[in-house]
Amino acid sequence: MNFENYYPFTPAPLPYDFEALKPYISEYTLYFHHDKHYKDYLNKLNELLAASPFMQNVPLEVLTKTENADLRKNAGGVYNHELYFNSLTPNYKEPSAKMKKLISDSFGSEQNMRNKLIDTGTAHTGSGYIWLAENPNGILEVLTTPNQDTIDFDKFTPLMNIDLWEHSYYLDKQNRRKDYLNGIMNILNWEKAEDRLER
Ligand SMILES: [Fe+2]
Repeated sequence: MNFENYYPFTPAPLPYDFEALKPYISEYTLYFHHDKHYKDYLNKLNELLAASPFMQNVPLEVLTKTENADLRKNAGGVYNHELYFNSLTPNYKEPSAKMKKLISDSFGSEQNMRNKLIDTGTAHTGSGYIWLAENPNGILEVLTTPNQDTIDFDKFTPLMNIDLWEHSYYLDKQNRRKDYLNGIMNILNWEKAEDRLER
């Protein structure tokens, strides 16, 4: 967990150009997603915290679990989007040998893992995220969360998440969430996933 990340939050730049993830995600989608949706959550979170001084030194991950629904939603919106943009890369590299072994120990094969991500994300009702995370037994699992919720950080280490909100794909794929998820498999950032696992 990152305990250095607290109020006032500053927007993290998109780690690549708006056009960089074409043809899987268009520059229009990434522009609205990063510069409007993500920044709106961040600005709203700062506003809420400005009015709650006693919460200002609470780290972002902890804020995503707070009982205040407004704070929780906006903190989740910041955390989830920062992880999502960093779960993708225009410079796709295969998982390392070590990661490949973990994937096949967990799912049987890389293709099974991809199918699990795509099928779970396609079946999820409404907004939310799918996650690839390590469980307490050191095995990878695919999890889902609704809205801007986050996974249980006490039990799971998040390796990556994928945004399932319609704003992630509607401009490009309309209602075809499965096409979006199929495309995403070509731009997953395995290097950063492995960094998170080792941290
Ligand atoms: Fe989003």
